[in-house]
Parts: sequence; structure tokens; C-alpha cells
Amino acid sequence: MEIPVKEPERQYYFIEKTKEKVARIAEQLGRPLTFCVQTFGCQMNARDSEKLSGILREIGYEEQEDEHADFVIYNTCTVRENANLRVYGRLGYLHNLKKKNPHMMIALCGCMMQEAHVVEKLKKSYRFVDLIFGTHNIYKFAELLATRFETGEMVIDIWKDTDQIVENLPNDRKYPFKSGVNIMFGCNNFCSYCIVPYVRGRERSRNPEQIVEEIKRLVADGVVEVMLLGQNVNSYGKNLEHPITFAQLLMQIEQIEGLERIRFMTSHPKDLSDELIEVMAKSRKICPHLHLPVQSGSTKILKDMNRRYTKEQYLQLVKKIRKAVPDISLTTDIIVGFPGETEEDFQETLSLVEEVQYDSAFTFIYSKRSGTPAAAMENQVPEEVVKERFDRLLAKVQEIARRTCARFEGRTQEALAEEYNEENHLVTGRLGNNLLVHFPGEAGMIGHMIPVYLEECKGFYYLGRKAE
Ligand code: 5AD
Ligand code: SF4
Repeated sequence: MEIPVKEPERQYYFIEKTKEKVARIAEQLGRPLTFCVQTFGCQMNARDSEKLSGILREIGYEEQEDEHADFVIYNTCTVRENANLRVYGRLGYLHNLKKKNPHMMIALCGCMMQEAHVVEKLKKSYRFVDLIFGTHNIYKFAELLATRFETGEMVIDIWKDTDQIVENLPNDRKYPFKSGVNIMFGCNNFCSYCIVPYVRGRERSRNPEQIVEEIKRLVADGVVEVMLLGQNVNSYGKNLEHPITFAQLLMQIEQIEGLERIRFMTSHPKDLSDELIEVMAKSRKICPHLHLPVQSGSTKILKDMNRRYTKEQYLQLVKKIRKAVPDISLTTDIIVGFPGETEEDFQETLSLVEEVQYDSAFTFIYSKRSGTPAAAMENQVPEEVVKERFDRLLAKVQEIARRTCARFEGRTQEALAEEYNEENHLVTGRLGNNLLVHFPGEAGMIGHMIPVYLEECKGFYYLGRKAE
């Protein structure tokens, strides 16, 4: 059979080919081959990992919880330096496992592989790695694996960028009842601290028809909640042949029968439109939760970060959203210690946090990423100063979150039952605002929306009971 040129047919060809190879090895060993996918980083990576698992399963590998597997793949993150360090650390451990299992293969992919110095280092000092690929050619995984089996040598394939989106490859959902759905890839914002635009490439939106089709298929397969994923969902659709807005896409998704909940992330404040706020206010399915990264409360720092909004504009936006959707939960990301951040700038961040009253906030210590404009800035803030500010911010964020989270006590809300604990017969449900509630129930509730009376807030989760 000739190798197909078109995708995804080409990948299905390589899946078949590798399947035969894997079946032969399994027969020799008298046991199935196993795989383990470890994900670092964000929800985008988590979704990519489901695609990798889908392909491996199709090829005949069986999943295994830990790294004592025949095929181990690390889907890496590089947004902060410590993510990279963790991968190097874990590779040493994998090397030891590989010495004991001659059939073991190790693959690395994801954002960290898009950095030239990382690949150089791996080539030189980590020769035991079998397969290295990046973020743009993840759809070629089956083909790369086939090449590895054929040549017996380390395979490296990294692309600088792509304009291609390959649809309809296998994928493997972690939860039967909810799923992430990519709506766009890449980022064009170039915030000055951020490496994402360099490793994820330029913004590309999927066609709305394909997104809606995918969600319909998911719903037919038992999914009731989707999380629409993109680095900056608010600029969705701008570069499509027939441009549409994110708000218009949401309206189309809202129409899908059987779908109960819609979430999305991440929103960039500079692109969040009035149209979107209106759609959120009217929607019956969009969850009352918005993750709206602010990064800093100082207009001067925001300018240096290239965020393209001021503190006042951000606060104005928050007001507008709260007016349209009064009960909405707001969460955010904040970076402490960006170059040039003074105590006054930091005070601006604290005052913004106080004013917005976030339901929760992810706080990060600024990490210098080489190649980004901020890495070359003077006035890098000394480590002890940053650490001390970070602790103060964290204490403030937690104190506020404890208060804001409790505001739904005594109300009944719908929760999506996600887990059942046999020992105490408690079901864990997720509320629209993303908080968890534990309530007495049974395993059969999993995957269903259950009305729950929120009896008591325990800091960052609720205890409740099923409402009549
Ligand atoms: N240092 C620290 N935090 C960063 N983030 C992105 N780049 C960096 C960096 N260089 C944070 C931002 C972003 C989140 C996903 O990670 O807050 O919103
Ligand atoms: Fe990074 Fe800014 Fe793009 Fe987010 S919007 S991925 S912080 S460059």
C-alpha cells in the first residue's frame, strides 16, 4: 500500500503499521506493551496528552499509572524555568528504569522542545531519549514512532511554526463526562515576559463547523461539559476565511442539545468584548466564572509587560462584567517581581486584588525566559525582595478567597458529579463557579447535574446535601 500524502489518512496508515510491530513484540514477551503519558503545564498540554494517549491506545499499548512502562512520554512546559528543571531531574530517573527494561522507549514533546538550547542539551547529554518532537507536529506522533521503530535511532523533529490544523485523529478522554476542546492554537500577544508565542507559534483558529461537530460527537458520547481552550479565546476567529467572533461561536455551541455547561479559558482583558459579556449574561449554559489574568496592578508595569491595558481599564472591565453577571466568580493570574517592580508598584497590585475580590488567584514568581524582551531588561528584582512580596500577596489572596468563596452558603446550585468516594459515600461535585462540593450520594450520580444545597463553606470547598 502506498503511503497516503493527505492527513489524517497518513497518520492512520502509520498507526496500522506500528500496531503490527507492537503486536509482534507483545507476542514475543507474552504480555501487552504499556504506556504512561506525564503532563506538565496547562490545560492545552493536558488536551494534547489525551491525543497522544489516544494514538498509543490505538496502536495497541495499554495505559499504566506510573513510569514503569514500555513507552513513557513527557509532555513538557517551559512557561517558567522550574518546569524545565523538573523535566531534567525526572529524566535521570527514567534512564535508570530504561536500563532495566530493554523494550522501554522514552519520548519528549511539548513547549520545552521548541527551545533550541534544550534540544541541543538532550542530543548531547541524554542520548537514551528515543523521540523528540514539538508542539506543531504532535499530530505526526504515529509517523515519528514508526520511524523510530524502523531506524532504531533517536528521532528528532521540531518545526518552527505551522499554519496547519489536522482534524479527526484519535483521542482519549480522561473523564467520560467532560472534555477540553481546542478552539485555537498559538498566541500573537507577545507579553514581554512570556515564552508562549515563541513555542506555540502564531494564532490559528479552528473552523467553527469543526468545533461544533466535535462537541456534538462528544455529547453523543456522554459529555455534558466542555472547556473551550485557547491562549487568548477573545481573539478567536479573527483570522478565519469567514471571520466570526468568540461570542458568536459561543452562541452556536449553546444551541447544541444535551450539552449542559460551557467553560472557556484563557481571556485576555484587552480583547474581552461587550458582545461576550452580553452573551454570558443571557446564556443558560456558560458557567458564571471568568479567568481574567491581570498579571500586575501597576499601570507602569503593565505597560512594560506589553499587556495593553491600564489598571483603571481593568477595573472598569470588572465592574461591567459584575453588573451584567452579578454572581460571577473571577479568578486571575499575577506575576510578582517583574523587572523594575518597585514597592509602590507592588502596592498597586495589592490594592487591585483588594478591590476586585477574586475568588482565587494563581500567583507566580517572575521567571526569566531567555529570548523574551523582559529577560534583557535591567532592574531585575532581587530574589529575597520578590519572595517576600510573593508571601504577602499569597496571604492577601487567600484571605480574600476564603471570604468570597463562602458567599454562596445557604443556596442551592447545580453541581456536576465528578467522583464518588466509597469509603465515606460522598460525591464530589463541581459548581458552575468551579468550586467543589462534597455531598452524600451514590456512584450512579457521576456525570450528572445534581442540585445541591450548600450547607457550609470549608475554606475553599463546600459541604452540602442533595436538594429536593
Ligand atoms: N514568569 C512567571 N510567570 C509567567 N507566566 C507566564 N510567563 C511567566 C514568566 N516568565 C504566568 C502568567 C500567565 C500564566 C499562565 O503563567 O501569569 O498568565
Ligand atoms: Fe503569554 Fe501573553 Fe500570550 Fe498569555 S497572552 S500566552 S501571557 S503572550
